[in-house]
Amino acid sequence: MRIGILGSGLMGGKLGTLLARAGHEVAFSYSRSRQKLKRLARQAGGKARAGTPREAAENADALLLAVHWLKTDDVLSQAGNLSGKVVITCSLPMNAENTELVVAHTSSGAEELARRVPRARVVSAFGTVPSEVLFAVFAARRRKARPSLVYCGDDLAAKKMAAGLIRDVGFDPVDAGPLRTARYIEPFTLLVAQLAYEGEGGPELAYQFERLAKSKSLRR
Ligand SMILES: NC(=O)c1ccc[n+]([C@@H]2O[C@H](COP(=O)([O-])OP(=O)(O)OC[C@H]3O[C@@H](n4cnc5c(N)ncnc54)[C@H](OP(=O)(O)O)[C@@H]3O)[C@@H](O)[C@H]2O)c1
Repeated sequence: MRIGILGSGLMGGKLGTLLARAGHEVAFSYSRSRQKLKRLARQAGGKARAGTPREAAENADALLLAVHWLKTDDVLSQAGNLSGKVVITCSLPMNAENTELVVAHTSSGAEELARRVPRARVVSAFGTVPSEVLFAVFAARRRKARPSLVYCGDDLAAKKMAAGLIRDVGFDPVDAGPLRTARYIEPFTLLVAQLAYEGEGGPELAYQFERLAKSKSLRR
């Protein structure tokens, strides 16, 4: 697939690199340093390239939005018309200090984004893990037990595409339903961040959901 990265920082830089290594054609964009975008493309290998947000969006099968919430409008305006595009967002609607969600409870960053690009097909994915764990997850992708990664959205074809990319990075995709589920996913991410950055053991943290089959005698 052709994947445009809108925001090539900790998340976009790493996810773009891993998706390129998984065989996708990746275009890195939206950094303050053109040199950095070129370096990311060179190090990712394959057909990775550096470009402007508009170039990254043109002909892309999917876009990864990975910018600070306050930069959303800026990058969207630079990307141009996103009608019909699959936009996978890992962005959290945080305030400037990164201390609080500025959209929550009755809406979510993902839903707010979908309102800003009404004709795009928005999926929320990848935001629930710290960037520090991504390379380790990719390296361990051949193991049987993969970490989970929740995603949600309203467009089934777009979600299917996102699930494939989630698998390519090394996670087990967990479909959390419609885009409004991002109202629960985004606060959950703050819990993961708390454990990753304030807990013991460091930020290389992922999570795994487990369904336990009940024995018949215990089933109600
Ligand atoms: N980091 C994580 O572990 C993590 C985990 C889950 C979710 N998230 C969410 O994912 C999104 C991206 O986070 P991130 O940590 O990848 O952010 P980041 O490292 O700061 O990357 C943001 C990107 O936007 C670019 N950018 C372009 N113009 C900018 C400007 N004027 N001011 C600031 N940045 C500008 C940055 O450019 P430069 O290349 O010049 O810096 C960078 O490439 C955020 O919404 C965050 O809440 C992050």
